[in-house]
Amino acid sequence: MKNTNSRAAEALAIDGGTPVLAGPPPPAPVRWDGPEIEQLAKMIAQPSLFYWKGPQTALLVANFQKHYPLKYVMPCSSGTAAIHIAVAAAGIGPGDEVITSGITDMGTLIGILYQQAVPVFADLEPHRYNLDPVDVRRKITPRTRAILAVHLAGNPCDLEQLKKIADEHGLILIEDCAQSWGAMQRGRPIGTVGHIACYSLNDYKHIGCGDGGIVASSDERFGPLLQKFGDKAYDRVSGARMPDFLAPNYRISEPQSAVAAVQMTRMWEITGRRAVLGRRLTERLRDIPGVHPHHADEADRCSYWFYLFRLDLEKFACDRNTFVEAVKAEGMHAVAGYIATPVYKYPVFQNHNFFAGRWPVRDLGLTSMDYTQVSCPVTEQIIATCVKTPISETMDEAWIDGVAGAIRKVAAFYAKG
Ligand SMILES: Cc1ncc(COP(=O)(O)O)c(C=O)c1O
Repeated sequence: MKNTNSRAAEALAIDGGTPVLAGPPPPAPVRWDGPEIEQLAKMIAQPSLFYWKGPQTALLVANFQKHYPLKYVMPCSSGTAAIHIAVAAAGIGPGDEVITSGITDMGTLIGILYQQAVPVFADLEPHRYNLDPVDVRRKITPRTRAILAVHLAGNPCDLEQLKKIADEHGLILIEDCAQSWGAMQRGRPIGTVGHIACYSLNDYKHIGCGDGGIVASSDERFGPLLQKFGDKAYDRVSGARMPDFLAPNYRISEPQSAVAAVQMTRMWEITGRRAVLGRRLTERLRDIPGVHPHHADEADRCSYWFYLFRLDLEKFACDRNTFVEAVKAEGMHAVAGYIATPVYKYPVFQNHNFFAGRWPVRDLGLTSMDYTQVSCPVTEQIIATCVKTPISETMDEAWIDGVAGAIRKVAAFYAKG
């Protein structure tokens, strides 16, 4: 697509001009090395690799609690498992509604659906991409039991408002912190405002152990149940093997815990660096017409699992893909969009194909939810106009300035006259 801006901008790299970011890209971080190897060696010398009373899992819990002062902590097999345990421990059951976000991973929804509860999608804030408290209020019905707040991409939700709504309506606030290690809301680590907090340690997160998760709570109603809901309803504390409800096996194991325990000691530094770099990118993008930076509240600490900016496409004489190809040619990494559609548009939701083609709660009249009718306009606009670019702790300030320079150059080139 041609530039319509008569002020004739600098030639784009995609057209043979000089790229803004000419140097080598930042190196991939070294994620695991000496300390993890040492911990794994200690682990392999143990007589048992079982999580309960396992020294590695105990160390993981202790290291986690240094950052997140939560009383009951259950390390488990994934972030998905953590959320399922949280939903189950919260007593959420058939037909109960859980208000959540349409831009997330399936892991946010799986536990809700397996408890035969109903995900209800509220719309998002246009530039922070998290639950919009105003729409959350609108989505509350007599069946609402919980708000499952996803802190997307390291960016804290408006927890003050969400907690206020939860308290007013007697709802449980579950925080999905999978993408948000190291994020702080008004000086408080995310996960410590709501009733139950869920974290992921999968391979792609700020810190990880291949696969793993943590669910934690200081609430006496839910905390004591977390261990049982993640371990076949066996009560490891009392030793009683007398299940009194249905629960899966979502246990972590000592090899995962050994790696995760050490990773936890790196978490603050990794996320702190990302917080600085992401904020810098926002400062550099702020005055570019047609580009909306990833909004993070000044009083919060966003740990930028990734950076998502939006294009006001009416201001440009190009489409999003052309813009993205042009910035990539300038030397930065970029992808048009994040997930392809809001999660409620996935075939599993559109066909209500939850349990062998059926959805018992609807068949039994416990919900009238029809996902083919769900529409969250802001969520859909975000997905249609966002551009994703990585933030890594191995980047430096000069690289971030180059990324901003690349976006500025392309935006100037395609700006409508
Ligand atoms: C927001 C969110 N919630 C939940 C999950 C599920 O975590 P896991 O992959 O560890 O099951 C993820 C994973 O990507 C996620 O990004």
